[in-house]
Amino acid sequence: MTESPKIEQYKQLIVQVQALIDPECSWLANYANVIAAIQSTFHHWWCGFYFVNQRQELELGPFQGPVACTLIGFNQGVCGSSWARKETILVPDVHQFEGHIACSSESNSEIVVPVIQNNHVIGVLDIDSVNFGEFDEIDQHYLELIVELLPEMHPVHV
Ligand code: SME
Repeated sequence: MTESPKIEQYKQLIVQVQALIDPECSWLANYANVIAAIQSTFHHWWCGFYFVNQRQELELGPFQGPVACTLIGFNQGVCGSSWARKETILVPDVHQFEGHIACSSESNSEIVVPVIQNNHVIGVLDIDSVNFGEFDEIDQHYLELIVELLPEMHPVHV
C-alpha cells in the first residue's frame, strides 16, 4: 500500500531537519532553518515560532510568510491556549475558535504545537492555512516529532 503524499513529505522533511540542525550554530539559526524547511515543503500561508519571553508572553520568533502579531498572552488565542494546555491544538475553522487571534484575514485553519524542553513550554510552532480543515492527526504526529528534534534554546551570542 502506498503512503499518502503528505506522509512522504513529512518523512523527507524529517530527514532534512536532522541534516540541517547544526550543533555548531546558535539555536536561533537552527530554528530559522527548520521553519524555512517546513515552508519550502508545504507552502502554507504562514508558519513560525513564538517563544516565551521574560515577561511570560509569547513573542514572535523566526517565521515565513506575511508579517504577524508580535506578542500573545498566556492562554490567549490558539497559541496561548496551546501553551497553557501544554498540548497540540488543531483548529479546522479558526472562526469557530473562541478568542482566536487573527493576524491575517486569509487564515482559515491552524495547528499549534507546543515546544516543550525540560518539562517547560518554551514556545510554540504555529502553522496557518488559507484552506479550512487543512491539518489533521498526521500533521500533529509529524510536527510533534519535528519539534522534539529541535535543539535546546540558549542565549544567543551573535
Ligand atoms: N492565530 C494565532 C495568532 C498567531 S498568527 O496566526 C501568526 C492565535 O490565535 O494564537
